Amino acid sequence: MEKTLLILILTLGCCLAASSDSYNVTGTVDEGGQCLCTMIMPDNTFPMYRMESLETASHNLTISVQREITKIQSYQSSLAVYMERLSNLTRRVENVELGIVSYRELDFTLMKLEIQEMETLAVQLRASFNGSNTIVETLFMEIQNISVMVNQLESYDKNNVLAVRREIASLRKRLQDCEKNQTVFNPPPVIYGTCNHGGLINVTKPFVVQLNWRGFSYMNGGWGKDSFVEASNKNRFWVAPLNTDARLMELVRLYPAYDDLLLYKNPSDKTLSKYNSYSMTYDYSRCGQGSGMTLYNNSLYYNCYNSQQMCRMDLDTNNVQLQILPDAVYNNRFSYAAVSYQDMDFAADEQGLWVLYSTEQNAGNIVIGKLNVTSFTLERTWATTQYKPGVTNAFMICGVLYATRPVNTRMEEIFYMYDTNTGKEGKLSIMMDKMMETVQNLQYNANDHKLYMFNYGYLVTYEVTFRPESQ
Ligand SMILES: *[C@@H]1O[C@H](CO)[C@@H](O)[C@H](O)[C@H]1NC(C)=O
Ligand SMILES: *[C@@H]1O[C@H](CO)[C@@H](O)[C@H](O)[C@H]1NC(C)=O
Ligand SMILES: *[C@@H]1O[C@H](CO)[C@@H](O)[C@H](O)[C@H]1NC(C)=O
Ligand SMILES: *[C@@H]1O[C@H](CO)[C@@H](O)[C@H](O)[C@H]1NC(C)=O
Ligand SMILES: *[C@@H]1O[C@H](CO)[C@@H](O)[C@H](O)[C@H]1NC(C)=O
Ligand SMILES: *[C@@H]1O[C@H](CO)[C@@H](O)[C@H](O)[C@H]1NC(C)=O
Ligand SMILES: *[C@@H]1O[C@H](CO)[C@@H](O)[C@H](O)[C@H]1NC(C)=O
Ligand SMILES: *[C@@H]1O[C@H](CO)[C@@H](O)[C@H](O)[C@H]1NC(C)=O
Ligand SMILES: *[C@@H]1O[C@H](CO)[C@@H](O)[C@H](O)[C@H]1NC(C)=O
Repeated sequence: MEKTLLILILTLGCCLAASSDSYNVTGTVDEGGQCLCTMIMPDNTFPMYRMESLETASHNLTISVQREITKIQSYQSSLAVYMERLSNLTRRVENVELGIVSYRELDFTLMKLEIQEMETLAVQLRASFNGSNTIVETLFMEIQNISVMVNQLESYDKNNVLAVRREIASLRKRLQDCEKNQTVFNPPPVIYGTCNHGGLINVTKPFVVQLNWRGFSYMNGGWGKDSFVEASNKNRFWVAPLNTDARLMELVRLYPAYDDLLLYKNPSDKTLSKYNSYSMTYDYSRCGQGSGMTLYNNSLYYNCYNSQQMCRMDLDTNNVQLQILPDAVYNNRFSYAAVSYQDMDFAADEQGLWVLYSTEQNAGNIVIGKLNVTSFTLERTWATTQYKPGVTNAFMICGVLYATRPVNTRMEEIFYMYDTNTGKEGKLSIMMDKMMETVQNLQYNANDHKLYMFNYGYLVTYEVTFRPESQ
């Protein structure tokens, strides 16, 4: 550039010299007024032909310098792009090392291609800058580092080292979780009929066994198995749908085994009403009322029809005993929410037989009564503060009353408890999915740790889980 300028000045100098006469130059002006000068350069010290070639060379140089500048500019922008990609790549490799991304999600081939591409560029950059640019040098090193790292990773993968390491980390985490929430991962060993646990903690999803044998118009009733811990016949099922008036229990069907229940096979029926052919009327006094019945030690316990009495029918002899439940209200005075005539709800657990009812004295709140099954009398009572019509149903486990209420049409919540062992009551929240809106009967069986629900005519079971004893 500078040399080109110099040539221009010399050319101009020629004309200046011609007009000022200060140099040994012969100049003439022709008729057209054009200045003609003849220069005689001493010793040929300034060869014009060389100057001309210099001029072109300089021009060539300018172009190539310009080209180089453009190149550097494009290098700089691609440098930024590649820096970005490099840090992205580094992050991805780090994620693999930290176990955030699964090994299988990592495409090693693609990664190596990207690194190769960058390596090529880095080599070019390095050559053109020839060590004068520290950014490029760092970049170059980083790329080489990452290339080594990815190759190492890939070779590790062959031995599944990282996968194993991740597995170990996950195992360790699960172990820690397990230590923290022993209940979730290590439920206590199940010993049916015992109370070596810290109380109810959860129930499973419902299992629909079948529709009751009388059909879907029979929406009220109860069902289950003998819940006496030492029951002589633990496999037998009883299903007692009420009549469609949702009040009278006239029939109880027994199935010798689960398969029979499922297939409606080998049933045997107990008819509780009696036809008096002389008066041509039915006697319902030994029938049941409401869906609070239960089977305990081969006897069916229920609220006698239209009465303050408890009934107990021995299934072997068909004998029915009647016994007043002192102070108990009846005939739909304080039933459960959404079901009628369940003034007395019999419940059995590991500790014996209970009756859940209400009295005027206790203002309609639940009274828990412990029955002496030998004398068929009320042994002891506990007055709770939970209004009976405010709950949908209740059951006993190890002397603890658990009551439910609806959350919505498909969900029930075990929300209230009363521990007769300590006399303490409390709130809890265990959700229970339900198939149908109304819960007619819900009871616990100590022999299989299941809840039996009569749900709008459908027979449903839940398994319960317990908190470990130490908690
Ligand atoms: C000019 O040219 C003449 C001969 O042509 C020479 O004798 C003279 O010395 C020159 N003068 C200068 C200043 O070079
Ligand atoms: C200048 O560039 C042209 C075209 O690239 C080439 O032919 C020529 O030899 C070059 N001249 C010099 C002095 O390098
Ligand atoms: C980083 O890489 C991921 C995966 O190839 C891509 O989805 C993401 O857009 C990249 N981010 C940048 C900033 O390049
Ligand atoms: C790069 O610089 C070194 C000296 O630092 C020099 O010896 C070498 O020839 C240079 N290479 C290029 C391609 O300019
Ligand atoms: C390359 O890796 C080495 C060791 O692994 C480390 O010391 C160095 O800082 C790394 N260089 C760059 C530019 O990341
Ligand atoms: C583990 O227990 C904590 C409280 O101790 C609880 O917040 C967490 O939800 C439990 N985790 C599981 C998986 O049950
Ligand atoms: C309770 O059991 C249900 C159904 O199995 C389950 O979805 C839920 O996570 C369990 N809750 C707890 C706290 O374990
Ligand atoms: C269970 O019933 C049997 C026979 O019916 C009787 O001998 C036994 O005493 C009863 N046990 C309890 C705890 O009621
Ligand atoms: C249950 O009743 C029987 C017979 O009346 C009696 O001998 C027994 O002591 C009673 N049991 C309890 C725990 O009160």
